[in-house]
Amino acid sequence: MIGKSDNQIIVINAGGQYCHMIARRVREAGVHAKVCSPMGALASLNGAKGVIISGGPSSVYADNPPKFPPKLFTSKIPILGVCYGHQVLAHTLNGRVEPGVEHEYGAAILNIVGQDTILKGVVDKAPVWMSHGDEVVEAPPGFQILARTKTCKIAAMADLNRKFFGLQFHPEVTDTPCGGRILKNFIFDICGCEKDWHIDSLIDHLKDRIKSHVGDRHVLFFVSGGVDSTVAFALCTAALSPDRVTGVFVDTGFMRKNERIELEKVFTRRGWNNILYVDESEYFLNAIQCKSDPEEKRKIIGDCFLDVQHRVGIQLGLTTGKWILGQGTIYPDTIESGHSQEAAVIKTHHNRVPAIQDLIARGLIIEPLKDFYKDEVREIGRQLGLPKSLIEKYPFPGPGLAVRCLCSKENFSVEGQPKELQKIAKKRGLRAWKVPLRTVGVQGDHRSYSHLVILTGKSAKLETYSEVARTMTRKVRNTNRVAFLITPIEPDRLKNASVTNAYIDKRRLNLLREADAISHEMLFNEKGLSAEVWQFPVVLLPLTLGSGETIALRPVSSTDAMTARHADLPLDFIKRLGRRLKKLEGVDMVLYDVTDKPPATIEWE
Ligand code: XMP
Repeated sequence: MIGKSDNQIIVINAGGQYCHMIARRVREAGVHAKVCSPMGALASLNGAKGVIISGGPSSVYADNPPKFPPKLFTSKIPILGVCYGHQVLAHTLNGRVEPGVEHEYGAAILNIVGQDTILKGVVDKAPVWMSHGDEVVEAPPGFQILARTKTCKIAAMADLNRKFFGLQFHPEVTDTPCGGRILKNFIFDICGCEKDWHIDSLIDHLKDRIKSHVGDRHVLFFVSGGVDSTVAFALCTAALSPDRVTGVFVDTGFMRKNERIELEKVFTRRGWNNILYVDESEYFLNAIQCKSDPEEKRKIIGDCFLDVQHRVGIQLGLTTGKWILGQGTIYPDTIESGHSQEAAVIKTHHNRVPAIQDLIARGLIIEPLKDFYKDEVREIGRQLGLPKSLIEKYPFPGPGLAVRCLCSKENFSVEGQPKELQKIAKKRGLRAWKVPLRTVGVQGDHRSYSHLVILTGKSAKLETYSEVARTMTRKVRNTNRVAFLITPIEPDRLKNASVTNAYIDKRRLNLLREADAISHEMLFNEKGLSAEVWQFPVVLLPLTLGSGETIALRPVSSTDAMTARHADLPLDFIKRLGRRLKKLEGVDMVLYDVTDKPPATIEWE
């Protein structure tokens, strides 16, 4: 990789979910970006041409917010503050930040009111992506307002003399289409950087890193058949040699239908014989029995993987010190698990449980893809010559169906129709039901765990449902996910619905596996539809009308899983799929999730 150290941008990590994405966008523009902590910023400033302060979960009024060295603001280097970074600029330079009247998550429209500087080339009414609670209500002295949105008075501001800029929205995410232009305006026009960074030697660089990290040890690699672990495994095999890398495919019992058969086909075709297949489904199922808390489930599964790896190591006669563990971890797994200094835990990915963290600290884990996003991993896979069928496969989480099979410790009745939700739904001819089942969300860089809202009523357009979802998640506290009922029922039937006590067992897993297989088969058989979808989780909820449970469909479009939109599938297809699933024994209702990320995560837990 090429790039001069005096031609770089420093990205200060204030703990935002999208901090690394900013660095990535800068690198994509052809300039090297270095990520550092707030207090480590000064040491990195030497030679830097500009500073970007990322978003973060904190508030400038929190008890212990990230601290920024005061010298940063007098060093005469251009600064761009993004989201929380924008609020830090305002707060530090004597503007005013307050909790927003409405929290803003997801799409917003930018009204440009100021001079043509950092927003040069951005058209008025451009869509941008927001995720914040606090907002800047008064710009600091010397600043002018550049743009507003309907609910945010100061969406962009600038002090042209000092070259300080603040953006409340996120220019780094793909859902802000003009974001690339804005970042380039900052990097090239404002900071005066030159384009001198490219990654065509990336694969060689990664192979060298693997060789030097592994030394003369052996690598035991968990492979699941998914894109990340296969690309990481292929890289390690290419860097070392097949006899020094052993792939272990663990059947956890939480896999999709025919997963192992598909995987064997791909691996055999490539001539990879260094794979061991182990069936540990009973072990995983026993470990997770009677557990309903999503984080507890995730941690147990992570620990089970480690235990299996330990046993396999013994079985292969690998002695301590002679081998290390390989994982296909990618960047979002790390950031959402809260392992950047200031970031909040959104969910603990199976490859980020404490026992694994301990191994990482001791240098006993190799994760060649840990700095990359899914689309970059796909590109690396392409360069390694992996087949399209594998590279384009939908992502599937390590803990598999276990995090798509929701559980409940108790029985609850559906709480009915809270007034504030009802008011919003009624305006669009719908009804809203608050369901006592909670799911995970990410709001303002924080984890949320809130009740589900179901919309019923006369069939509406998909856009109407999603508009209602957007309004509800912004206006009603503790609301992060909204789904509509696809399968028709009598108007008041949901009053008699209840959440029943249920845990993960083979019957529920088989039902979910079947629903998942049918949903994917129907999607792929429908011409052109599968390309609209980036990932398609199918979820089982212990929500019953008397005899069965509920299936929720969660197809999303995304590029890197850091943000996502519910997929805009044709209503006619959604209804046909709903009817087909309803025929499965044990299914009472089928829902379609219409929430974006943020405020809801892609997986329900
Ligand atoms: P969320 O639900 O956080 O998911 O929006 C983002 C992406 O990560 C996947 N995911 C996981 N992948 N181990 C993984 O390998 C995990 O524990 C895990 N949890 C979520 C999820 O499927 C989506 O693609």
